[in-house]
Amino acid sequence: MADMQKLYEGKAKIIYSTEDPEILLTHFKDDATAFNALKRGTIIGKGEINCRMSTELFQILEAKGIPTHWIDQPAPNQMRVRRVKIVPVEVVVRNIAAGSLCKQTGLPLGTVLKHPLVEFFYKNDELGDPLLTRDRLLLLELATPEQLDQLKTMTLQINEILTEFFHQCGITLVDFKLEFGLDVNGKLLLADEISPDTCRLWDEGETDQTKRIMDKDRFRQDLGQVESAYQKVLERVLNSKTQG
Ligand code: TMP
Ligand code: ASP
Repeated sequence: MADMQKLYEGKAKIIYSTEDPEILLTHFKDDATAFNALKRGTIIGKGEINCRMSTELFQILEAKGIPTHWIDQPAPNQMRVRRVKIVPVEVVVRNIAAGSLCKQTGLPLGTVLKHPLVEFFYKNDELGDPLLTRDRLLLLELATPEQLDQLKTMTLQINEILTEFFHQCGITLVDFKLEFGLDVNGKLLLADEISPDTCRLWDEGETDQTKRIMDKDRFRQDLGQVESAYQKVLERVLNSKTQG
């Protein structure tokens, strides 16, 4: 379209302007990166899967009262979203110990956490997205104390909704990453995507640790069958949604 301009290209998505200054178009790519882009590859069909899955999950969350940037999905790998100013913080919530939590604390993989753990990482590729303390986050003025409290409250609500939903799909939501943005009125909206790229998802029907991984860890750890795992997650999400 003539009035579409590329505004930003990230590792997994391209953002375009539209004729409406308050609306952006997100194009989901098949490109995959890990470890701050040290590892690169392609997951065939990933763009469409992540776009469709984010659409389904944003709709579920909206129906439960969580405001999101999602507007509609005009093409299989495209999503129209409200323009927001992204808060440069990656909000991670964990139900089970995995990934950097195990590396940094020594907790064994798979430890069920007594309460969900919410963590904030600085969204800054040059610095390697470091873990932030609350005081560092406030010192850097990445958010106000009120916004920070709201981010945590919304994240815990989203975790409750999605944990229950994925359980209906036979999938354990181990942990996931969220991003938020401020709209023109300064209201916090859930933004970015929710997909197997940004969640750890374990198949409840499998006990073998390697077989049960259905998310980007298959790519990060070279476990194979990445495309089919992503496809399986999407199929279960769509089935579970139609069964209501
Ligand atoms: P971590 O255990 O590596 O800190 O990851 C926690 C969650 O965040 C996991 O579900 C994967 C997701 N994640 C992203 O979406 N993007 C990233 O850049 C990283 C490092 C993790
Ligand atoms: N998306 C991140 C990157 O490429 C890291 C990850 O998801 O593991 O850097």
